[in-house]
Amino acid sequence: MFEKINWSEIKTLEKKEKFEQIIWDAIKRIECGGYNIGEGKTAKVCMLEEYPEACLKTISEKTISKNRSHKEMEFLDLASHHNLPVPKPICSVETDDGKDYLFMETINGFSLEDLVNMDLFGDLPETFDFKKFFSELRVIVERMHEQRIYHRDLHWGNVLVDKEGKPIIIDFGDATVNHLSSEDPYREINAKGEMTLYQSDENRIAQVYKQVGTYLREKGFFEVKKGGDK
Ligand SMILES: Nc1ncnc2c1ncn2[C@@H]1O[C@H](COP(=O)(O)OP(=O)(O)OP(=O)(O)O)[C@@H](O)[C@H]1O
Ligand SMILES: [Mg+2]
Repeated sequence: MFEKINWSEIKTLEKKEKFEQIIWDAIKRIECGGYNIGEGKTAKVCMLEEYPEACLKTISEKTISKNRSHKEMEFLDLASHHNLPVPKPICSVETDDGKDYLFMETINGFSLEDLVNMDLFGDLPETFDFKKFFSELRVIVERMHEQRIYHRDLHWGNVLVDKEGKPIIIDFGDATVNHLSSEDPYREINAKGEMTLYQSDENRIAQVYKQVGTYLREKGFFEVKKGGDK
């Protein structure tokens, strides 16, 4: 049921059994109402009160095409292994009655979607540099593709700004590894022969760049020289 527990800092907890007990207690408590730090179309993410550096993603709405939590954990593992900025994975749980949980590092920051929709401009770090942020994000995506990892859902809710103003990529629920370079990673045909077409990661980033740029321009960001172009 538990996939793996590999976050080095957590190794300080003496025993695996103790760790698993903590995980189960956390799941139980969060199901009774945890401290919500974000919500997407399919999942809710809550911070653990005792370990605010860790959070729990509870995948509520199952979509057949989405990766289950063990798979999502594998992507976080693989990406971390290649030094790509993603939350460090802790463990994933798939219960017998079909529930999915993913424990990972809590990123101290917020998504670009929350930045705009919750008007968090005042919370951006002083050092935030719009152009640098997006050029770093493009490099991260390039490096991810070099490892044959395709995210396929890079909308603005899946890109976080951390407390240093750096990009962090989350949510590998739609990700795939393209084993054959001859295959199109953005086209998928399921067992029933139905085809899903995904927008490319590059296109998604270009859209997000425009959305965030428009918001920051409205906020006068480029005039106050917080970074970026004029
Ligand atoms: N590790 C994390 N640290 C901090 N916040 C997080 C973390 N993971 C997720 N979040 C917050 O929770 C929100 C929802 O998480 P996530 O994107 O994984 O859910 P989802 O339902 O799969 O999303 P989608 O709507 O893209 O399918 C994110 O947009 C983000 O604000
Ligand atoms: Mg998401």
